[in-house]
Amino acid sequence: MEIITDTLKLRARLQRESRIAFVPTMGGLHEGHLSLVERAQKEADCVVVSIFVNRLQFAPTEDFSQYPRTLEDDCNLLKKKGVSVVFAPDDTEIYPVPQDFLIEPPSFANTLEGEFRPGFFRGVMTVVFKLFNIVQPQVAVFGKKDYQQMQLVHEMVRQMNLPLKIIACETTRAPDGLALSSRNRYLSSEERVEAARLYRVLSEIKSVVEAGNGEFQQLCKKACETLTYYQWEVDYIGLHQRDTLAPAEVGDLDLVILAAARLGVTRLIDSLEVSVKH
Ligand code: PAJ
Repeated sequence: MEIITDTLKLRARLQRESRIAFVPTMGGLHEGHLSLVERAQKEADCVVVSIFVNRLQFAPTEDFSQYPRTLEDDCNLLKKKGVSVVFAPDDTEIYPVPQDFLIEPPSFANTLEGEFRPGFFRGVMTVVFKLFNIVQPQVAVFGKKDYQQMQLVHEMVRQMNLPLKIIACETTRAPDGLALSSRNRYLSSEERVEAARLYRVLSEIKSVVEAGNGEFQQLCKKACETLTYYQWEVDYIGLHQRDTLAPAEVGDLDLVILAAARLGVTRLIDSLEVSVKH
């Protein structure tokens, strides 16, 4: 496995590859990231993983400086997995000049995560666009945990005619249901136990809706109240159409529950697809 920090060296190394599968990450790697790597390995012999904590997607009040930076451990995990190339640039490699050309996402980026993290998706889309140009993969793999991000990347690829295919992977969870996340390491041991409640309330909504309950707002309100009772601060819990992320309506079949909530200082997000039968 080669670890490359320089864009020109990366380009030179990748020139001989005819098919590249790419997994962009911010490091702090866990089994969720590794499941994306495994999926990428089914698509191409050459798998490139990027590790770059992207300053542009963090608000000044957010956790940019505390975000886990565990490059050595990350590289050991990726080496064991048989990854071909790790691209681990520093800030000045990606942003040698102030980045004032930005990718402006469509209006659905201003809802949900975008409402609570203004500018977040502009930062994500800009770095993903740059990384796609640097790596020039045929395939890129994203996780459904960050559902809105995954859908926005799909839309960017479609609207900007980018010549690659996006693959979406299921969320990897701990045995108690908590979605794996680099940010889970901020949780205290009591909070870690409590954190699994988020998945339990989403699962409850899923099973009730799949059994035919169409009281979407009522169900989400109840879930929100449950979490609040257990000391969570809920940003949103809602049922949405999977492709547009518009609020779900009775009669929609392919839905997704999207949620974000804070437990102490840790902000967790999760999503769960719901399939309503005719
Ligand atoms: P990061 O949070 O490191 O996530 C990298 C990729 O791993 C994303 O596609 C994310 O959805 C996926 N992922 C995270 N946890 C997962 C889990 N439990 N199961 C499955 N997939 C999971 O998302 C980002 O980084 C950044 O915004 C990035 C796209 C790299 C741009 O900076």
